[in-house]
Parts: sequence; structure tokens; C-alpha cells
Amino acid sequence: MLGPVILAASRSDRMRRLISAAPVTKQVVDRFIPGETLDDVVPIIEERTAQGLELTMDVVGEDITTPDQARAARDAYLALVDRLAELELGARVELSVKLSMFGQALPSPATTLNEGPRGPAPAFQGGHELALANVRPVVEAAAAIGTTVTLDAEDHTTLDSMFAIHEGLRKDFPQTGCVIQAYLFRTEADARRLAASGSRVRLVKGAYKEPAEVAYQQKHEIDKAYVRILRTLMEGEGYPMVGSHDPRLISIAQELARRAGRKPDEYEFQMLYGIRSDEHLRLAAEGHRMRVYTAFGTDWYGYFMRRLAEKPANLRFFLRSMVSK
Ligand code: FDA
Repeated sequence: MLGPVILAASRSDRMRRLISAAPVTKQVVDRFIPGETLDDVVPIIEERTAQGLELTMDVVGEDITTPDQARAARDAYLALVDRLAELELGARVELSVKLSMFGQALPSPATTLNEGPRGPAPAFQGGHELALANVRPVVEAAAAIGTTVTLDAEDHTTLDSMFAIHEGLRKDFPQTGCVIQAYLFRTEADARRLAASGSRVRLVKGAYKEPAEVAYQQKHEIDKAYVRILRTLMEGEGYPMVGSHDPRLISIAQELARRAGRKPDEYEFQMLYGIRSDEHLRLAAEGHRMRVYTAFGTDWYGYFMRRLAEKPANLRFFLRSMVSK
């Protein structure tokens, strides 16, 4: 029952200030977020790729409040692409972005202009256009160095906008990926649409606090939905990215891939930095494509809290470290 409480805290500014300032937090955070700067993470990128792993890099940050912050997010990703260009790793290192960090939730002038008593209702509220304007240069820059971007899935209220941005970007950059969440009722239909279109789709269980009207609440229901959706992706024409640390789902994924006649380079596994690291290496050594989602940066609060919520033992470790200080 702790998970929902931690997820609620992950949206609280007061908790953000408290936890971000706690003197011991950083050593606990480091397990999941290996650095704050590009200089911190470049050695990790070099080490992991030398071990046969692939990476997807996430500059942490979400729920920003001003357009300047959204532009700063874009610039942080562009700086990352510049460093990746020097490393010449191509598609072995791709990018993951959260559109909320690019301004998706902000009121934007472009949308406001369309509003009014008789004007057409805007298709999307807030900063949809702003997020699109900020993410496009990142996708372009990534394509120029031979890699791609995946749009992370955030809470369910953001997803229609995310899928519209994804579809728009794919017209020019068909490799642009997106994430779907097994816990949402809508996802089976989303998977059917995406599997038919040849896109890159990462399937995850889902990490946000979602109401019972839109999402399964029980682990066994989420796991069953995950398997159904994964079957759709494996039997489809797209490139499935299996985002999970769950050993049962990983063996089911291998079996579904085999039955669908997929070769090892026709799908991949993805796991988070700091979680089941031995398994990353084991799967890579077995000849699977394994991509490690590696988050870095200073605004780590939301990302860190979701990792705590996923495993109560993490919270116990975190609290113990605060008490023992
Ligand atoms: P499950 O939670 O059942 O965990 C299986 C096992 O993995 C656990 O028993 C434990 O051993 C280990 N484990 C899992 N989480 C752990 C943790 N935090 N600490 C320590 N051990 C842990 N979600 C989302 O909503 N939008 C997104 O865009 C993404 N993106 C994303 C990318 C990638 C590459 C991954 C792997 C995951 C995401 N997620 C996500 C998060 C996802 O929704 C989910 O919350 C986590 O992956 C945990 O679910 P598992 O499938 O690992 O299963």
C-alpha cells in the first residue's frame, strides 16, 4: 500500500523541497541516477557500451512551470546529442524524453489564440504545440547522428497529446519511438494501432498513480495485460521494446518472440540503470539486445520517487539511511 502514498508525494512541492535538501539523499539517489552532468555520465556510457549494452539517456526533469525551463530542457538534450556525436556510438545510445519537461502542461499562446466562445475548441490544451516545437529539434539532432528518440509515457491525461506528437514526428522521423503502459485499459487498442504501423514501441507496466476508472490496480491484472499487449506487439510489424525487470515477463517475451519468428535483432529488452544490473549483462551475453535506461541531471525528484514506489524495500533503505546519519 505504500506505493500510492509515495506516488502522491512525488507530485508534492513540499516533499520535493524536503527530500531534495536532505543531506543523505544523494548517496541513495546515486543508485538510480548515476550523475548530474554530462561529464559524470560519459564514462558510464563508454563503460556500458564496451560491455555490449545499449543505452537510452534521459535528462531528468518533468512538471516544469515556465517556457524558459522547457527551452532549457531542449538545450540540455541538444548538448547531450553534441557529446554523443563525439562518441560516435550511433543508435547504440538513444534518447528518452518526457514531454512535460518540454512544456506540454503549460498554457501556450498558440493554443490560447484558437480559444474563444465561437472559435473551434483546441484539440489539445496547454503546451502541446510548445512541447512539439521544443522536442522536434532534439529529434532532428538525434537523427543527424544516426540515433533516435523515444517519447516516455506520463500520466494518462497527457497521452492523447503524446501520441499526436509521436504521429506528427514520425512523418519526418519514422524511427521515433513511444511508450505504452500495460496498466491502462486503453493500451490494448493503442498497441494494435501502433503494432500495425511499424513503429518502435516500448511496453512497460506503468509507474504513475492512476484511478480505477482508467487503469488496472492489481499486479496480476497488470501482468496479464502486459502479456496480451506484448503478444500484439510481437505479432505485429513494429519493433517491440520490452521494458521490464520482471523475470517471468522476460521469459514470456522470449517465447512470444520465438513463436512470432522474430530474430534477436528484431526486438530488444530494456531495464533501468541500477535495477537488476547482473541481468542486463546476462541477457546481453546470451545475444539479446539490452538497452539500459540511464537517467541523469539535477531535477531527479520525480524519477527517484517512482523508483521508491516500485519497491517498498527501496523506501526502507532510504529511510534507514536518513536515520543512521
Ligand atoms: P515489477 O515492478 O513487478 O518488478 C519486477 C522485479 O524487478 C522486482 O521484483 C524487483 O526485483 C525489480 N524491481 C523493479 N522495480 C524496482 C525498483 N524500483 N527498485 C529495485 N528493484 C526493482 N513507466 C512509465 O509509466 N512510463 C515510462 O515511460 C516508463 N519508462 C520505462 C523505461 C524502462 C526501460 C523501464 C524498464 C521502465 C520504465 N517505466 C516507465 C517504469 C515501469 O512502468 C515500471 O514501473 C517499472 O519497470 C517496474 O516494473 P517491472 O516491469 O520491472 O515489474
